[in-house]
Amino acid sequence: MGRMQDKVVLITAAADGIGLAAAHRLASEGAKIVVSDINADGVSALAKQEGWLGLHHDAGSESNWRKVMQQVKEHHGRLDVLVNNAGIGQAPGDIENQSLEAYQNVMRVSLDSVFLGCKLAIELMKERGGAIVNMSSIHGIKAAPHEAAYTAAKAGVRMLTKSVAAHCAQSGYGIRANSIHPGYILTSFLKKWIEETDDSEALRDSLIAQHPIGFLGEPEDIANAVLFLSCDESRFMTGSELVVDGGFSL
Ligand SMILES: NC(=O)c1ccc[n+]([C@@H]2O[C@H](COP(=O)([O-])OP(=O)(O)OC[C@H]3O[C@@H](n4cnc5c(N)ncnc54)[C@H](O)[C@@H]3O)[C@@H](O)[C@H]2O)c1
Repeated sequence: MGRMQDKVVLITAAADGIGLAAAHRLASEGAKIVVSDINADGVSALAKQEGWLGLHHDAGSESNWRKVMQQVKEHHGRLDVLVNNAGIGQAPGDIENQSLEAYQNVMRVSLDSVFLGCKLAIELMKERGGAIVNMSSIHGIKAAPHEAAYTAAKAGVRMLTKSVAAHCAQSGYGIRANSIHPGYILTSFLKKWIEETDDSEALRDSLIAQHPIGFLGEPEDIANAVLFLSCDESRFMTGSELVVDGGFSL
């Protein structure tokens, strides 16, 4: 019997990176996986290969969210766990150089998406209870000077999660909501950034130097945290922020 046996789980932005690793980790514990992503071809190929439900989904769009939740309901009849994983930065990201348009796009994909996901998941979960896991960042706690909008969005995810947790607890819904705060994780995006920089070694070393543990995280490190917050082992946790950052924030 797996730790997520027969739980219906929706993970956003799951065609790659942390979301993909979380989908595999939860599936390995018996979850029924629904993956959604803005990359329609990627998510449908993945779902076909794994026998999961795969949905095209721009996580910043309310109409997309309504359609996705309807499809989850039609296919599985319920939702037990939502992993709000979608989030982006957009360069240039410092306050002097970022445009309002870029700022608003980051907020739409990284924070509005979490608002919409929580709102609609509660509708589906409140009869039976459930768990919501929101992907923040270590930059939701410690500012990134080169990422004004991203820092604001991820700090928003952190406090939005606490508001959702308090509301669900007060309402007696049996829904827990927690946030995860990863340090720098070696996803394909980060690997590409390192590879394409003129001095890759210097960039890699400077990123590692910010993590006292002495190495960068892997998507599986965050997938394990998602599993813990999704399953009943964390049943006494709600509104908490789980920092998984190799000591970045120390
Ligand atoms: N990688 C890191 O170092 C790191 C660190 C801290 C927090 N995070 C957070 O973890 C989450 C996942 O990060 P990642 O690095 O795995 O992502 P990623 O950049 O590897 O992208 C993962 C997926 O997001 C999808 N995506 C992009 N825009 C989308 C949208 N509007 N709607 C739906 N899907 C969309 C992409 O198609 C891709 O498949 C994000 O919220 C990110 O902010 C990442």
